[in-house]
Amino acid sequence: MAVKKISWRSMFPSCYRPPPVVGEDAATTVEEEEKWKNHGTRRSSLHRLSISDLSKVSSSTLSEDLSASIPGSNLHVFTLQELKVVTHNFSSSNLLGEGGFGPVHKGFVDDRLRPGLKPQPVAVKLLDLDGLQGHREWLTEVIFLGQLRHRHLVKLIGYCCEDEHRLLVYEYMPRGSLENQLFGRFSAALPWSTRMKIALGAAKGLAFLHEAEKPVIYRDFKGSNILLDSDCTAKLSDFGLAKDGPEGDDTHVSTRVMGTQGYTAPEYLMTGHLTARSDVYSFGVVLLELLTGRKSMDKSRPSREQNLVEWARPMLNDPRKLARIMHPRLEGQYSEAGAQRAAALAYQCLSFRPKQRPTMCKVVEVLEPLPDLDDIPVAFFVYTVSTTKDLDHKGKENNAKKETDHHDSDHHRSRPRNRHDHGRHCVKGQRRQSKDRDSPGFHDGK
Ligand SMILES: Nc1ncnc2c1ncn2[C@@H]1O[C@H](COP(=O)(O)OP(=O)(O)O)[C@@H](O)[C@H]1O
Ligand SMILES: [Mg+2]
Repeated sequence: MAVKKISWRSMFPSCYRPPPVVGEDAATTVEEEEKWKNHGTRRSSLHRLSISDLSKVSSSTLSEDLSASIPGSNLHVFTLQELKVVTHNFSSSNLLGEGGFGPVHKGFVDDRLRPGLKPQPVAVKLLDLDGLQGHREWLTEVIFLGQLRHRHLVKLIGYCCEDEHRLLVYEYMPRGSLENQLFGRFSAALPWSTRMKIALGAAKGLAFLHEAEKPVIYRDFKGSNILLDSDCTAKLSDFGLAKDGPEGDDTHVSTRVMGTQGYTAPEYLMTGHLTARSDVYSFGVVLLELLTGRKSMDKSRPSREQNLVEWARPMLNDPRKLARIMHPRLEGQYSEAGAQRAAALAYQCLSFRPKQRPTMCKVVEVLEPLPDLDDIPVAFFVYTVSTTKDLDHKGKENNAKKETDHHDSDHHRSRPRNRHDHGRHCVKGQRRQSKDRDSPGFHDGK
């Protein structure tokens, strides 16, 4: 039986003008701006295409039509062969990570591949044909990321849709995922102000989605989906589970429960009712991970500590208890006031009652000053400077009293103290976290 192909454009009347990319840096070049002028007036995000608009379209008709329908996004349509070349045949040495969709490989593209294509490293995500995800998740990412542009969302450069193969090509994020930075075996400890910068950036990304005229619920907020640029600017990636928010008088979207154990809001788990406040709950979990350095679920811990939220919740509003659960790798080098504010915020985000959770705009407001708070203790080394008298004395004793050596050893490290309180000690190796000094020697690992 012949199957009638439905063209994507045929679904829309001839007066249809493709919608612009929506977001704060939607048009990035003058040419793009011109292009939009030629296409007509900028439409509001209410006209953003949604996944339901495309559900009737056969996947085989989508490849070219899809990109033509979201111009201004400048999505490039690549062939599988091209992406093989770009990633050295998806070589394992280029593997960046892997999630439910499939493996992600690093590659490099330039204008030899497509005229006008900026020379740049890219990340290519390849659908695992034996996995649980498929065309729908791929299409969801293309539709959302193809149209939404924001400083805190990863940029989609293009895609491939060939036979059953589905690939996505993103801008490459040099510091990989927050999950790797926080829990990776070879990663240096993230400094406090960087943690707050990441929380703030990710919160801005979510707030942008929730506040769009046609709101988006992200649904899979977690460390492995938060990617970090070279300066640790956080960007949300992986829109495979994103959903259009409720419309009109609806208070929620009813949907199959999807997401990741340990991050999913309890009411969504129980009822399947999805709202923007479900994302706020997941944000609270990630904020807790940043504070404590613990994973949302960790089966290797004693049973009462396995679920991070249950374990940490009772300690979040008590400053003394909070100090006990802060990430030991911070070595006390954090702003106490900042930690208390962040912990109180996490507590609210993790409220059982969705309505008591703050909006993401409120979250951004609370987080905004935290990366800059500088009441951070200083770790320092105490040098005991020997006087001539000491030396004479020492000379006489000549190697005796070995047992007291540790008292005047050159590298006796003291407990972190407030940086205004180094008094009479001779201080060396003072370490202070501040905005301009918070880039540690991260292990890239990619
Ligand atoms: N643009 C990118 N730059 C660098 N690493 C990336 C990029 N995209 C994904 N990764 C790595 O691949 C992992 C899986 O990517 P993700 O998009 O979350 O896939 P999935 O949809 O399968 O969960 C990420 O956690 C990250 O480590
Ligand atoms: Mg993912």
